Amino acid sequence: MSTDSFPNLISQRLQAAVKAVCDEASLPEGFTVDVVPATNPQFGDYQSNAALQLSKSLRQSPRDVAARLSEAFDAGDLCDPPTVAGPGFINFRLSASVLAGRTAALLGDDRLGVPRTEHPKTIVIDFSAPNIAKPMHVGHIRSTILGDCLTRTARFLGHTVVTDNHIGDWGTQFGMVLWAWKNLRDDAALAADPVGELLRLYRVVNERQKSDDSLRDTCKAELVKLQQGDTENLEIWRQCVSLSRGGLERIYEQLDITFDHWLGESAYNGALSPLVDRLLAEGIATASDGAICIFSDGRGDPKSDPFLIFRDDAWQANPFLIRKSDGGFLYATTDLATVDHRLREFHADALWYVVGAPQQSHFDQLFAVCRRRGITAELEFISFGSILGKDRKMLRTRSGETVQLADVLSEARERALKVIEEKNPGLDDDEKTDIARAIGIGSVKYAELSQHRMTDYVFDWDTMLSLKGNTAPYLINAYVRTRSIFRRLGTDFQSCGELVLTEPTERALALKLLQYGETVPGILTGFRPNLLCSYLFELASAYHGFFEECPVLRSEGAIRESRLALCELTGRVLRHGLGLLGIQPVERM
Ligand code: ARG
Repeated sequence: MSTDSFPNLISQRLQAAVKAVCDEASLPEGFTVDVVPATNPQFGDYQSNAALQLSKSLRQSPRDVAARLSEAFDAGDLCDPPTVAGPGFINFRLSASVLAGRTAALLGDDRLGVPRTEHPKTIVIDFSAPNIAKPMHVGHIRSTILGDCLTRTARFLGHTVVTDNHIGDWGTQFGMVLWAWKNLRDDAALAADPVGELLRLYRVVNERQKSDDSLRDTCKAELVKLQQGDTENLEIWRQCVSLSRGGLERIYEQLDITFDHWLGESAYNGALSPLVDRLLAEGIATASDGAICIFSDGRGDPKSDPFLIFRDDAWQANPFLIRKSDGGFLYATTDLATVDHRLREFHADALWYVVGAPQQSHFDQLFAVCRRRGITAELEFISFGSILGKDRKMLRTRSGETVQLADVLSEARERALKVIEEKNPGLDDDEKTDIARAIGIGSVKYAELSQHRMTDYVFDWDTMLSLKGNTAPYLINAYVRTRSIFRRLGTDFQSCGELVLTEPTERALALKLLQYGETVPGILTGFRPNLLCSYLFELASAYHGFFEECPVLRSEGAIRESRLALCELTGRVLRHGLGLLGIQPVERM
């Protein structure tokens, strides 16, 4: 049996029908035969709007075109004869034997029907990238969770992925941190909670320097000393970086996230000066008032030129600053050097950046400079919206500070523990803690990934920890249900003969299972893990529907075997799909 997806198989046959009904020349421009899952399962499993697209050029009503296409359609043993619905949709219902055969084949397929990409690439994914000694803000939470999910998905699809945590370990914040370290450090606090103490130092000095010009200058001087290689300052800087990194690693461990590299901004210090010289020599950068900038090349439309800005009724220069007049380098310079490194050392075909929307214009400029330098690699800025509090303003702590990821994670575990205690008080304490960790962390990740990444979403504990609705606990619970059947059965799934899919809920579940292979590759189109979440939610709902209607252990013979197979497959797909989201399910809860 062919392993091509159902939409592809139907579309190929429908294309043949289109050819039979009209000649090539009368096809509208850009015409393609799209086949998508049916919006209403009552009418069929898949549908196409080909007739609606063709009706104008054929000068016939869409319903008439649909009727002619259906007639010309060779269904073979793939599906029943198509039917026409609504204004002219053509509906297809897969034949029972094809559906059963394909579903049974999934049992022996460790990819669960997901094809490998035909065009494997080497992709460097830049995500998380918090700033050392500064609070890790909510934007970093989104980047961390999204970037990890894209990494897992791209790897599973067969791409080579290199992950690089481009931490901000050389920013201007170090001037402040150095001064605070020397003048305000509390050694006992530092020993007890290094990350907390660093954060306190940063917050205190940041507050003070706002109203104290001379302190601001002192901090600047500390920064200059660091940049010029002062031994004492370098040593303090090293300690701060290593303390912060320890704290970050504990967070990533809880999140089950790892990086291949931690090439922070400081890794490029030595590359910046020669890079600027090269850009000057190549005529890409220009000196301007003592600084070095990259300006518009005046070629494109001003509206899409990232080096121009419309201000005071005119287009003005909006240069990419790569060296300040005091000789200092910038975030932009480091990013240019980072691109070079990734292309040279990792042989990247694609560079993906998972960074919040406020940095859009930085990346527009960065990518435009890359193009001018002749870089042809794929460059993607994968941005996202904000996380809001219940008041629909930026999420803050009660005292008004930025919310720390570490605090979010411990609160998640505590709250999940309460949910578990209510649901299943009989479990022993260790198991409760493990489950609470999986559910708590899983819920935070799922709340992020189930939204379109550009959506600003409200962070609400009650919603995300609910056992009902499109949530991690709902999906994990569905998985647990699939497992509990085999626990009651007393053995793991063995094997089964032919599947018998007679009940509508069995059919619907099998169809959903087979759509996993159609869903996963689509995640990378537009970078939308939310598509996978919606799919898993639909799968879990289809499973609940099946479970209510169809007794499993109380049925017999081939039907029982077949239903056990559906339970097993549902469990496997849920587990795998959650795994791509970075969520580890539990066996019971
Ligand atoms: N550290 C930066 C920030 O917190 C994010 C870095 C993103 N990556 C990059 N290559 N610029 O805003």
